[in-house]
Amino acid sequence: MDLFPVLFEEYDLSGAPGLAEFKEHIKSSGKHDVHSLAVGGVSSHGGWDPLRDPKSEPILIAFQQCVNHYADKVGNFPCVISGSWYNILPHGGFTERHRHESSVISGAFYIDLPDKSGNFYMVSPLQPYMMCVHNIKDAPYNEYQHEAPIKEDHLYLFPSWLEHGSRINMSGEERWTVSFNTSSCDPKTLPSDFVEKVWGKGHED
Ligand SMILES: [Fe+2]
Repeated sequence: MDLFPVLFEEYDLSGAPGLAEFKEHIKSSGKHDVHSLAVGGVSSHGGWDPLRDPKSEPILIAFQQCVNHYADKVGNFPCVISGSWYNILPHGGFTERHRHESSVISGAFYIDLPDKSGNFYMVSPLQPYMMCVHNIKDAPYNEYQHEAPIKEDHLYLFPSWLEHGSRINMSGEERWTVSFNTSSCDPKTLPSDFVEKVWGKGHED
């Protein structure tokens, strides 16, 4: 029996409506600056939000529907996407280990992921409790960091408290990521047309 699983969920959005327009919107209109977590790269975090534009609405809805699925699967109260940003990491760049505070579920979506441009890794929250353990062979129970086989145009959702980062971009091309946070939110407080788009008519009482 394995106890206390953490859900890292993958969603293939390569066929999502509006994906090409979303990428074009970021690449033509995005504004970014240096950021302490995007080492060697740039980020729009705290500034330009790629989902806050009518051109991004189809992708915002696709992301939100994935969040709905994730929240239901883990038994969370409904969450809505509260803000997003993008990072660009050139050759040699990486994302420092971090977690997303003031958020419940977080997402990472890869709009440009060249080969060898840096894996996504997560850090076990159990490591601090295992200070007396002497591991002599690899086992799922003593894994401190896990690297995920991420793919371009796929969305990954995980709990915002889970520490994570990206390995060094060893490719000669840029690695572009869109990330977002969520907040717990009663759908009754949201505009009815938005609720209908992301939860469907059946969600209303
Ligand atoms: Fe992150």
